[in-house]
Amino acid sequence: MTTECKPLAPVDIPETAMRAHCRRVSVAAVELAKRLGWSMDRQRTVHELSERHHEGRSPLNVKTVGRLLTEVWGYESQDESTTTTEAQREEVSLIELCCFFVQRWEFIPYELMTFPEIVNELRGMATEGFFDKRLVEGLAVVPSVKLTDVKQAVSRLPVFPAIALRAMKLAQNMNASGFHLEEIIGADAVLAGEILQVANSPLYSPAMPIRSIRQAVILMGMPESCRVITAAAFRPMFQSPLVRPLWNHSLEVARLAEALARTTDKVDAEEAFLAGLMHDIGRLALWKLHSKLSVQYAALLEQGCEPMFAETVLCGFDHTQSGREVAAHWRLPQNLAQAVEFHHQPERTDSLLARVLYLAEHCSGSNEDLPSLSRLTAALELTGLEEAHLRMLPGDHAPANW
Ligand SMILES: [Fe+2]
Ligand SMILES: [Fe+2]
Repeated sequence: MTTECKPLAPVDIPETAMRAHCRRVSVAAVELAKRLGWSMDRQRTVHELSERHHEGRSPLNVKTVGRLLTEVWGYESQDESTTTTEAQREEVSLIELCCFFVQRWEFIPYELMTFPEIVNELRGMATEGFFDKRLVEGLAVVPSVKLTDVKQAVSRLPVFPAIALRAMKLAQNMNASGFHLEEIIGADAVLAGEILQVANSPLYSPAMPIRSIRQAVILMGMPESCRVITAAAFRPMFQSPLVRPLWNHSLEVARLAEALARTTDKVDAEEAFLAGLMHDIGRLALWKLHSKLSVQYAALLEQGCEPMFAETVLCGFDHTQSGREVAAHWRLPQNLAQAVEFHHQPERTDSLLARVLYLAEHCSGSNEDLPSLSRLTAALELTGLEEAHLRMLPGDHAPANW
């Protein structure tokens, strides 16, 4: 008896995934064209070609190029050899290079690769004649930003609010009371005002106005009072309208991380809350770099580009690396620093807190990075959580008046 081999059915790549890939290629290609000093017209051509380079789900080959030649450059003939100019061939080469670069970036969840490692691989391929060396060097050299710039920007950040760490330690102490919290807040009328404001808010609706920290703590409970103080200590860093959404996101992730930590019981809930508040502090540092970068960064995010990819293209590093610089500057305890640094790549560390942050980031729906089933599964397994736990998380993660 012979068994007939059926041909494999074509793999159905979701249109949205393909569109997102083409958008990333377009972002990288236009950025590279700018660095090479190409005219606005050529940047526009590169953008249009990139957006359509897998149209019909075809690979970028001679046939696709021929079709694009007709549609984008207006050529009648489909014969590439007789119609392309040097400039057009260069544009196609640039898109091929960016398509390959993006694919390598998209593969990072399955392979421990960094931007410099990808660039080195591209250099090797350029030596073998696969890519134009000049184009690869254009991609490799990020003209305006270096990690040393981040270090300088970080030094302009306020000193780490040590009060946040003390409040969190207090929250872990079963015997702590409102008296201890009063001691910590000391003469800081702003922080004292914050806790009174929350205690008197509609969320708690006290029968009588709350006038002292001790009364507030009795009403809200010690852990919640400490969280309010911790959040209040961090909030001034996120005052400008540009970074306000980042503050709301940080609060949401803090609440989610805390809830996950309580469920798993393997991670301290108060520490998870603090780590959640700080997890994207590297993004704050990037916003604090010069305004030209902030404008470019904001434009790429507006185009729907994932922050992790936009950061890699513009800086050659992402907010986890700038987060590491902030953590070092603040001399954060190692467990917090590791969680901040690896919250998008928890497979690079043993830290369970990093995995809780990864899950909280995922549940917040912030789409800062590509989704990764392998990371999600590993994070769930190691923290002892299940997908059902993620679905049961509260929808409203922070009181509106925080
Ligand atoms: Fe985040
Ligand atoms: Fe993040």
